[in-house]
Amino acid sequence: MKNIQSYISQHKERFLHELIELLKIPSISADSAYKNDVLKTAEAVKSSLEKAGCNSVEICKTDGHPIVYGEKIVDKKLPTILVYGHYDVQPPDPLDLWTSPPFEPVVKKTDLHPEGAIFARGASDDKGQMFMHVKALEFMTTTNQLPCNVKFMIEGEEEVGSSNLGIYVKNNREKLQNDIILISDTGMIAPDVPSITTGLRGLSYVEVEVTGPNRDLHSGLYGGTVANPINILTKMIASLHDENNHITIPGFYDEVENLSQEERTEMAKAPFNLDKYKAALNIDAVYGEKGYTTNERNSIRPTLDVNGIWGGYTGEGAKTVIASKAYAKISMRLVPHQNWVEITQLFKTHFESIAPKGVSIKVTPHHGGQGYVTPTNSIGYQAASKAYQDTFGKKPIPQRSGGSIPIVALFEEELQSKTILMGFGLNSDAIHSPNEHFGVFNYLKGIETIPLFYRYFTELSE
Ligand code: BES
Ligand code: MN
Ligand code: MN
Repeated sequence: MKNIQSYISQHKERFLHELIELLKIPSISADSAYKNDVLKTAEAVKSSLEKAGCNSVEICKTDGHPIVYGEKIVDKKLPTILVYGHYDVQPPDPLDLWTSPPFEPVVKKTDLHPEGAIFARGASDDKGQMFMHVKALEFMTTTNQLPCNVKFMIEGEEEVGSSNLGIYVKNNREKLQNDIILISDTGMIAPDVPSITTGLRGLSYVEVEVTGPNRDLHSGLYGGTVANPINILTKMIASLHDENNHITIPGFYDEVENLSQEERTEMAKAPFNLDKYKAALNIDAVYGEKGYTTNERNSIRPTLDVNGIWGGYTGEGAKTVIASKAYAKISMRLVPHQNWVEITQLFKTHFESIAPKGVSIKVTPHHGGQGYVTPTNSIGYQAASKAYQDTFGKKPIPQRSGGSIPIVALFEEELQSKTILMGFGLNSDAIHSPNEHFGVFNYLKGIETIPLFYRYFTELSE
């Protein structure tokens, strides 16, 4: 594309400054105290799309946080790219572990980011990555190089399950018609190892509650005579994996897609260094399902993890007590063909069945979604691959991710279109964690690569 590099170097400071302004607004979708900030962020996204050249932009109200929709239709006969992203962010806590406040963005150099990285909640997930698309559009419209039609749909509830976006998509199938969906909300292998995400895992998230006696009891007077809900809950949770770290829920693996040896060999070619992996996390060993490598365990295999567990006395000092209740939040990452609604039901039935007499169990499903895999022989994939080759000088590696963007499977179901996941984040970006950051190099590389995708996708569509 003409002048992309010179355009970026000329406008680099402004691109950074505009992202920093967006990152200052705490758009925490999970916390209703931030409702106004979420709305303010939607308005800021709207105005950035207008400035970038969209000819109609609207804020679409939902029962929750709004969706920003914008489009630029050049010619109905040309292909249409639908860009999806999210402007909401995860809560920033624990705050005391941040080296600078989460909503006061700063650019700092790190070993991995000699050109600097922007530290702020949402820098990588997903404001920074979403904003690359806005700046890429600005470049294409101001230099008269937009080769096709584009629609933007930026939501404010991704981090809380996208349930209102699901409704919006179902009600707006015509308006959202497209030839390909383009998303930057995933990662790549390393700054010098470009990759394209070809899969996402599904998710089932549940909360469990174990109730024993009707009140907290003196652990001396009653200890040994009644079921202690915390003892029982931990025992039940421990039984969900066997000695090989397989999940013990009957039927859990029934629909799991088994990859051929050939596909696994292909996967194993992606660069990966186990020693560096362990060193970065300060662990002396990895841990997981027997018979699979680390990269398989976090992508093609389903998992079950406790995300939180509580009950009883956790304050200072000691209190001798048997709690009446114990709780846990549990997530299951699923792989293609596992149906998240069925898995949730299998979990519930199994969890209730393993409870001993003396306690009662409540299982409450939260949210979930289907996994996704995209073929590498589509023109969408090829266009992305060519774009990366131009900007990184290397062919990108296809890689399945362990994370989830549940709405992607719904897009395919409702809009009959495939999604291309051009992620520019790194695993070390600390998304959902204190000190989230996004490399300035990654940000600018994204802005440079996206317009090439537009061009190659349009050319290959002819
Ligand atoms: N952008 C992430 C998902 C992601 C990150 C996928 C990195 C692949 C690589 C997204 O915002 C996210 O956090 N998704 C949630 C699920 C959602 C229903 C809350 C997740 O994966 O936990
Ligand atoms: Mn995200
Ligand atoms: Mn996220």
